[in-house]
Amino acid sequence: MNESEQLDEIITCRINDRRRSVEPCSMIIFGASGDLTSRKLIPALYHLFTENALPTPFRIVGVARRHKTDPQWRDELLAAVQQFSRTRPIDLKVWNAFAENISYSSGDFSEVETYKRLENRLSSFGDERLRRNLLFYLATLPSQFGEVVEQLHNAALLTREDQEKFWQRIVVEKPFGNDLASAEQLNADLTRFAHEKQVFRIDHYLGKETVQNILMFRFSNSVFEQLWNRQSVDHVQITVSEKLGVGERGGYYEEAGAIRDMVQNHLLQVLSLVAMEPPVSLDAEPIRDEKVKLLKSIRPLGVKDVAKQVVRGQYFAGAIDGKPRPGYRQEPKVKSDSDVETFVAMKLLIDNWRWSGVPFYLRTGKSLPMSASEVRVQFKPTPHVLFAEKCGTKLDANAITLRLQPDEGIYLRFNGKVPGTSLTVRPVRMHFSYNSEFGAYTPEAYERLLLEAMAGDATLFIRRDEVETAWGIVDSIRKGWKNKPLTNREFYSAGTWGPVAAEDLILQSGHEWRNPQPMT
Ligand code: BG6
Repeated sequence: MNESEQLDEIITCRINDRRRSVEPCSMIIFGASGDLTSRKLIPALYHLFTENALPTPFRIVGVARRHKTDPQWRDELLAAVQQFSRTRPIDLKVWNAFAENISYSSGDFSEVETYKRLENRLSSFGDERLRRNLLFYLATLPSQFGEVVEQLHNAALLTREDQEKFWQRIVVEKPFGNDLASAEQLNADLTRFAHEKQVFRIDHYLGKETVQNILMFRFSNSVFEQLWNRQSVDHVQITVSEKLGVGERGGYYEEAGAIRDMVQNHLLQVLSLVAMEPPVSLDAEPIRDEKVKLLKSIRPLGVKDVAKQVVRGQYFAGAIDGKPRPGYRQEPKVKSDSDVETFVAMKLLIDNWRWSGVPFYLRTGKSLPMSASEVRVQFKPTPHVLFAEKCGTKLDANAITLRLQPDEGIYLRFNGKVPGTSLTVRPVRMHFSYNSEFGAYTPEAYERLLLEAMAGDATLFIRRDEVETAWGIVDSIRKGWKNKPLTNREFYSAGTWGPVAAEDLILQSGHEWRNPQPMT
């Protein structure tokens, strides 16, 4: 360690070192033959294993309908990890040691026998902790949640948490319902035999380092937090753009659209972290209380407001990076006259003391020119005297950009004098890059999330009222769209930054979209 590293070490504050003790447990994956298991869950668990982050002992049991032996499933998983792991090649010695903990138990989710077999399997591990500390991962259709939970309860595998020694938790994935009513139903199904604090709803954006850093950035730096309010901020733009089109996911996407696929969860989560009030402590509930409070202070959108403040879009054929791309209606499993949105832009107002009158612009879309997620906090311009008077609109206001991905970092834009004999002002950038500061450390969101679920820390998971409040917002937008086909101004060519209607939306308030830029 050199001198400056030693100094950094002295002032590094490790907040939750003590907390990270995970008890021995078994993780049971329902729907184990699906994509999520092979692409995300197993690669994440494998990495946790390589980093000695998993408890010892630890077991993974996959449950699905198809009949398979343990060695067959392990072989399939190895092939998947070789394809999807963030580090390659896979060290076979390490894999084999990891794979010894993996087994498969086949069965239909609706049959009592399936759960008996699972019970036998867990008991066969010969360790009370592996039989009773259980993380159930429901990678199934949401319509199966209720059934699985009930069967687990009947088989005495899941008990409402009131015992001190052992725990059982349920992890579920999006889509968590398709509107408020269905989400309420799912919540009722899940909590019939389990307490809310046993339910861990995943939004993988919360597993991203940069998303977690939003709270740290805001509440551990007085410099920025002082400016984080309506006195200083002109408006905020949250952009989650994707280069990829819908591709093979047309069947799912026809039901979801961008509003359910991205806004209901990822964008509203980022918004709540950017705009929430400081929590009373760093524990899960105070943080989630503040996020819910923020979502509840978003001004409700009636049908007329939706027409003025929310824009949909759908891509038609175009080109990205010089390569032709099909239109959404030509994608597999998409109806040839589909009106499903692949782009959404909206202006939200937050009716609370801090943000009253500050527009928050959110947008997300597929087949855009670049994949990037960022939050841009645009500050108010200087008074119209001195430089502002001379430069007019050429004097850009200050902005802080939290680049969530890729090229993770934070950028502060301010104006500086160009050296020389003439008086020339231009924006310059102060730049913090995760990679240059901390080295290339890019754990998958699932690694962090699985570990937190095993540790029983719900901070990075979505609470029942949070998910329901977010659906309330989305439902009111969808109500405004009902029976209204897309207009010409709502189509965009693949490879452009969205439809003209989105430009109109922001221009009406005298602002303009700031597109993410490639970072060099
Ligand atoms: C998923 C959506 O939740 O998030 C996808 O279903 C989307 O449509 C993805 O592509 C984006 O995640 P990330 O981590 O690539 O930004």
